[in-house]
Amino acid sequence: MPDTAGAIHLAIRGGTVVDGSGGAGFTADVGVRGDRIVAVGEVAGEAQRTIDATGLVVAPGFIDVHTHDDAALLRQPDADFKVMQGVTTDVVGNCGTGVAPVSDDYPGFYNAFVGSLLGPVDSFDWRTTGEYYARLERLGLSINVASFVPQGVLRFAAMGLENRPPTPDEMARMKALLDEGLAAGAIGLSTGLIYPPGSFAETGELIELCRVVAEHGGIYVSHIRDEGAGLLGAVEEAIRIGEEAGVPVEISHHKAGVPSVWGKVEESLALIDRARERGVDVTLDVYPYTAGSTSLAAIAQAGETDEVSPDQVLVASVKHQKQYEGKTLQEVAQLKGKPPREAIEELLEEEENSVVAVIFTMCEEDVQRVMRHPSCMFGSDGIPSGGKPHPRLYGTFPRVLGKYVREEKVLGLEEAVRKMTDLPARRHRLKDRGRVAPDYFADLTLFDPARVIDTATYQDPRRYPEGIPYVIVNGRVVVDGGRHTGAAAGRVLRATTG
Ligand code: CU
Ligand code: ZN
Repeated sequence: MPDTAGAIHLAIRGGTVVDGSGGAGFTADVGVRGDRIVAVGEVAGEAQRTIDATGLVVAPGFIDVHTHDDAALLRQPDADFKVMQGVTTDVVGNCGTGVAPVSDDYPGFYNAFVGSLLGPVDSFDWRTTGEYYARLERLGLSINVASFVPQGVLRFAAMGLENRPPTPDEMARMKALLDEGLAAGAIGLSTGLIYPPGSFAETGELIELCRVVAEHGGIYVSHIRDEGAGLLGAVEEAIRIGEEAGVPVEISHHKAGVPSVWGKVEESLALIDRARERGVDVTLDVYPYTAGSTSLAAIAQAGETDEVSPDQVLVASVKHQKQYEGKTLQEVAQLKGKPPREAIEELLEEEENSVVAVIFTMCEEDVQRVMRHPSCMFGSDGIPSGGKPHPRLYGTFPRVLGKYVREEKVLGLEEAVRKMTDLPARRHRLKDRGRVAPDYFADLTLFDPARVIDTATYQDPRRYPEGIPYVIVNGRVVVDGGRHTGAAAGRVLRATTG
């Protein structure tokens, strides 16, 4: 790339560039001017700032494809828990839930239910997806953000909590709101088919909505209807929705979610492969842990608390009785002097259903099998609700690089980086992101491959990882020598076609 040395404001010298393509790393300097990479190779002359990357990997910034940071970014625009992991783009609006669009009754519903997962919102001073984006832009984020339009929020806006098919008017209302969100730059539609009211939608309703997604070139992403006994049927439903509507499909946090179906991901991955062979564009994502986390009410409803022993369930956050945070259901039951099942019911009642739990329901072999799939990306699914959140909120990406790449050799380094960068950037139509190459945006993560590791644990989850000294967002240094600089370098990324 021809450029004058004086114009380069940042030179990263002597690192191993792992460029996101999946190809072997190579030693090269990287030159940045403004918000773009302008040179990869030799960067001659003086730059305004030079970072010595000897011994470090220079990778594209990581893209967290599955987050619930919709409201957390409003409260904490520096997004420290993600940026310190090397994440430069956060994708929100997942699992059919989110904070836009806002209908008249939505703030009440949010505060009563959704807020227990996404955390509080001070005031909903936006309505449409586009206005939410404008709000984020005014805040000054340290991270880029892209979003899905959440189907549960659309359904709430059109028909409240009604458990029945929509009338033609209600369907038209959902489609209009979806169209508006996609036109504002949302990357597709998300569902969370275990969470009311989104879960009240039947397959046909979702296909009809996805036809709007197809018009915008977007994708359909789904927390599928069942991750237990009905896992395969639920994967088939997601594939069918994409196939009939003509949209790519992404299966969120793919897993066999209860012990009785361990091993079934072999079959679910085969279903995905067969669909891909006949031309349906299906991908998936995973978080690198054997415990899941969501609202205790949803877990109990799905029967998961009956399948594992009460010492395998941790209370992550509650509204009132903070003394229970970090305790197992076994311990909560003992404190209450009640059998576990009654203790759960009582706890949910006392906490007005606002209980987030962590539940150990997966097996290690399945997690590894899923992450090895060539079309699998990484999504933290972190739940920024307060209390003791699942450590995936702080640890997902360094854990993949430390535990699964370096220690256990489940993935090669270049392959893991590809799954964190180029694959999701293309998947979500984030133009000129996800590669270390000239003309791409300078979203860069520099990590020490010999040291990078997560340190967040279930009992002490709010801990930054180690071995990620520099993170650069749109050409600005946001993590410098392992410290967050507070730079508001992030942008709202709007999906692009073509
Ligand atoms: Cu989720
Ligand atoms: Zn989910």
